[in-house]
Amino acid sequence: MTLIFAHRGYSAQYPENTMLAFTEAEKAGADGIELDVQLTKDGEVVVIHDESVDRTTNGKGNVKDITYNALKKLDAGYKMKTLLKKEPIPLLREVLEWLSGNRMVCNIELKNGIFPYDGMEEKVIELVRQYKLSDRIILSSFNHYSIVTCYRQAPEIETAPLMGQVMYMPWIYAESIRAKGIHPKYKGLTDDIIQQSESYGIVVRPYTVNKEKDMARLMKLGCSAIITDDPVRAIKVRQRTARP
Ligand code: G3P
Ligand code: CA
Repeated sequence: MTLIFAHRGYSAQYPENTMLAFTEAEKAGADGIELDVQLTKDGEVVVIHDESVDRTTNGKGNVKDITYNALKKLDAGYKMKTLLKKEPIPLLREVLEWLSGNRMVCNIELKNGIFPYDGMEEKVIELVRQYKLSDRIILSSFNHYSIVTCYRQAPEIETAPLMGQVMYMPWIYAESIRAKGIHPKYKGLTDDIIQQSESYGIVVRPYTVNKEKDMARLMKLGCSAIITDDPVRAIKVRQRTARP
């Protein structure tokens, strides 16, 4: 069965990368969540997609230049006028605390492709170990050097390189960097790559799949998971998509 990971939480309906989006993903029946992490000026691991707070909050500036004390006052739900209360940028620690009370899988994407965030891997790994969640976490990044650093520091935690473009025999590449899976962009991903990779033992979790037709195709091909903004739609598709 293809697992359904809610991309930045249930971001089709709730403000991305907020506790509200994560708890609603669980209520909707998603098997897991995907989230993005950056580091604040004082080195806290926070859950936000962009390097800057400008797009998703009512603040301005780069996360790396803002202390956590200042950052926590921002509202990551400010665009959604129907919300009755503020939705702060969560600490990774807060999400892990919540995860320790349920059975969801969590894909943590390290956003260290633009700013290198020295020490980010150690910080994330320390938190995952502290909450004893190593067997329910997948660490991913577009920065594959960081993926290797994660594997070296914590071989017990699963890793998966993100791939924005199709590459040649990605299952061989994944194995060479000791990753258990690949997270490719779904566009351009051929049937052959999915099937060869999965049968080689390298799981495929394409992102970000929001159309029913694409969801159904990837499920029929046997992807281990899909990453979607709309877990409710994906669950409906899964219910009616029997694998041959
Ligand atoms: O993890 C898949 C996906 O989240 C990667 O792209 O830009 O949405 O973080 P992005
Ligand atoms: Ca992401």
